Amino acid sequence: MFNQIKISNKIKPFNKTIEVSSDKSLSIRAVLLASQAIGLSTISNILESEDVLSTIKSIKKLGIQCKKIGKQYKILGYGLNGFDLKKKTTIYAGNSGTFARLILGLLVRTKKVVKLTGDKSLSKRDFSRITEPLKRFGANIKSKKGSLPVEILGTEFLRPINYIETKGSAQCKSAVMLAALNTPGVTKIKAVSSRDHTERMFRHLKLPIKIKSKKNFDLIEVQGLKQFDGFDYVIPGDISSSAFFIVLTILSKNSQIRIKNVNINKSRIGIITILKKMNCKITLENKKIYKGEETADIIVKNSKNIKGINCPSRLNSAAIDEFLVIFLIAAKAKGISKFKDLGELNKKESPRLDIAVKFLKMLKIRVERKNNDLKIYGNPYLVIPRTLHIKSYLKDHRVFMMSCIAALSFVEGGKVIIEDKDSVNTSFPSFLKLLKKLGAEIN
Ligand code: S3P
Repeated sequence: MFNQIKISNKIKPFNKTIEVSSDKSLSIRAVLLASQAIGLSTISNILESEDVLSTIKSIKKLGIQCKKIGKQYKILGYGLNGFDLKKKTTIYAGNSGTFARLILGLLVRTKKVVKLTGDKSLSKRDFSRITEPLKRFGANIKSKKGSLPVEILGTEFLRPINYIETKGSAQCKSAVMLAALNTPGVTKIKAVSSRDHTERMFRHLKLPIKIKSKKNFDLIEVQGLKQFDGFDYVIPGDISSSAFFIVLTILSKNSQIRIKNVNINKSRIGIITILKKMNCKITLENKKIYKGEETADIIVKNSKNIKGINCPSRLNSAAIDEFLVIFLIAAKAKGISKFKDLGELNKKESPRLDIAVKFLKMLKIRVERKNNDLKIYGNPYLVIPRTLHIKSYLKDHRVFMMSCIAALSFVEGGKVIIEDKDSVNTSFPSFLKLLKKLGAEIN
């Protein structure tokens, strides 16, 4: 009861400037790299969500000093593999796939066993995609059926590997890059293009990395064992959190929004490319480069005449966390939208492809699914005229937030009851407060 919300009215027209929460991928990477630097790092504007707090708590348990002073996090590293472990240590990743996968990369040289655990959702996710390449470096890893809990014991006799990443997974690529940091010699990676924050941070920290970008994949070489100094980093806004407000604005009559200072790294803005192709009004202003990452204000206007899209699968990785809300736009578009090869969506905090199909059917949208391909038959007159009750399986934060956006965009005569509101704490604690700032009536 206390953890559910009810939405019975569409949001009224709004014209506002907002800031969304800070980027989760960058927050986790900044903390992890600071834990490997020599000396003090200062991370500002960090995302204080459960995923990032699990990261901070865990590196403290691994012997790294980390203190919040004012609005900044100060992290004191002792260099590569500078974790201080006296005995077997258990760390808890909560819901965070990114932290859980990346930390394993940093533990390939640990001298004591580290046991990694997670919540119900994370414990259902595949870890063999990480443990298999890390075993090839020489690390000793035990896990039951390739999922959590995972136990890792490092070795001093690490060897570099040649690794081919085929899923477009930044977590797999980054875990291998972090293991390569602790490994003598050159680790070579051929990876289907995916978010490249780790590469950009390596470059910014002057770590020896070579990257050749081909059409659909990248060739990356990391030379290991190069120490680096502590650094300062200010985290910008998260495009994945912005996505909910981008879509709400597109679907809300006479509305407009400016979302300030958002990371617009090319490998993350698949949603903007896709929605622009669907006739949506999105522009970028105030572009800046900060430590190798691009930021901008995103300006969005309510869009009429949204059209269907035949979405090229090469955009999948750059929009992977945004498909749930992209499907809401497809549901309201004129014409059919087609999406291909979305299997990775079912490997997230919950099986999002299965859930999306169920959800669209609840909205009475015609959907055809063939394996991992979807066809969504849009309805420009889409409304929710009845009561819908959404119970998000495994408390997936993005399913909760997408349901709120659907309700605020389509409710007409009906109401939507949505469970698990505390799931937003995973990635976007201020989500409901921001919606209310725009005028949303949420009970
Ligand atoms: C992330 C990569 C993506 C994404 C996740 C964050 C990252 O996962 O879905 O939310 O920070 O590296 P995959 O690498 O599994 O695609």
